[in-house]
Amino acid sequence: MARNRYWRLDAHPDGHDYAAALSLQEETPAPLDDGQVRVAVDYLSMDAGTRMWMTGRTDGYQPPLALGSRMVGLVLGRVCESRDPDFTVGELVRGFGQWAELAVVVPSVAGLERIAGPLDDPRDPFGVLGLNAWTAHIGVCDVAQVKAGQWLAVSAAAGATGVMACQIGRNLGARVVGIAGGPAKCRYLREVIGVDRAIDYRGEDVAAALSDIDGGIHAYFDNVGGPMLDAVLPNMAHYGRVAVCGMVAAYGGAPLPGPARFDQVLMRRLRIEGFFIPDVLAAGGVFPPILREWAREGRLSMPFDQSEGIENVLTAYGRMMRGANIGKTIVKVSR
Ligand SMILES: NC(=O)c1ccc[n+]([C@@H]2O[C@H](COP(=O)([O-])OP(=O)(O)OC[C@H]3O[C@@H](n4cnc5c(N)ncnc54)[C@H](OP(=O)(O)O)[C@@H]3O)[C@@H](O)[C@H]2O)c1
Repeated sequence: MARNRYWRLDAHPDGHDYAAALSLQEETPAPLDDGQVRVAVDYLSMDAGTRMWMTGRTDGYQPPLALGSRMVGLVLGRVCESRDPDFTVGELVRGFGQWAELAVVVPSVAGLERIAGPLDDPRDPFGVLGLNAWTAHIGVCDVAQVKAGQWLAVSAAAGATGVMACQIGRNLGARVVGIAGGPAKCRYLREVIGVDRAIDYRGEDVAAALSDIDGGIHAYFDNVGGPMLDAVLPNMAHYGRVAVCGMVAAYGGAPLPGPARFDQVLMRRLRIEGFFIPDVLAAGGVFPPILREWAREGRLSMPFDQSEGIENVLTAYGRMMRGANIGKTIVKVSR
């Protein structure tokens, strides 16, 4: 059996100093137990939510990872060994594995899914057919219930989940405001994604930029929380909806206080609801066919911020957490 390299969480990272907290390990893979599957990883998905698992927080939606354990993340690759009768060597699969060249999973625990082909791009299960796209669909359609003609605001709008939420809103006929860091991302959102407005939160006052939207924002797809949520709440329309997808502003440390403008929930009769894609997976949810259709029609696209090699995982992760990415951050793992 080929040797395996994997990333181990040794300590809780301080800010974005991931190199001091994770180390690349090498091993001779152990034999599989009954029920386990080994996946030869082609691509690793870098997900902002995993930052919280690296902390010691015990009140998050997932328990923290124990120090000394392998870093967990979504993997896409082929089964190379199986002791689960439902999975056969050679099958293309996606699920929660490890930041590793060879990931070992128990399929039911990992949410391991077989990927049906053919794929236009081998990365599509992390792109237009991926969990970020599905998450965005739940937030925009089921939670925020966005309708044609309404205003939808999206934060972290140029990231993997945000760029999907913007396009889904646009495809539904909503008017979309993308909020993202920096002029390049805003240009991308306007010129490529076709949002009606883009706000650079690093250079602009978000609350002021939203204040001239006549009647207010009907739906807010929140990926960020914290001060951004406070900037949006007083600019919501009456009876508006806030779909709480993520709180990336607070994943690195202690939870942020607030929202300071919680009063607006009553003043504007808002509905705020959090949601979590693993709940939908566990309930046997089905990937929305409309996303596949839009992708086929060229109305849904995912740009990739791709790094090469398992040794560059922390660089890729840092790019995403610092906001250097547009679209989905992935690592191509080549053995
Ligand atoms: N609820 C669910 O089931 C679910 C599933 C998937 C993802 N999510 C959530 O979706 C959000 C995006 O995750 P992703 O994996 O798709 O990552 P991503 O958006 O591709 O990358 C993270 C982005 O967050 C922005 N960001 C980082 N720190 C920030 C801060 N302090 N303030 C404002 N923006 C900040 C950066 O963009 P800028 O340059 O714009 O700052 C960065 O590009 C996360 O909150 C994640 O937890 C939730």
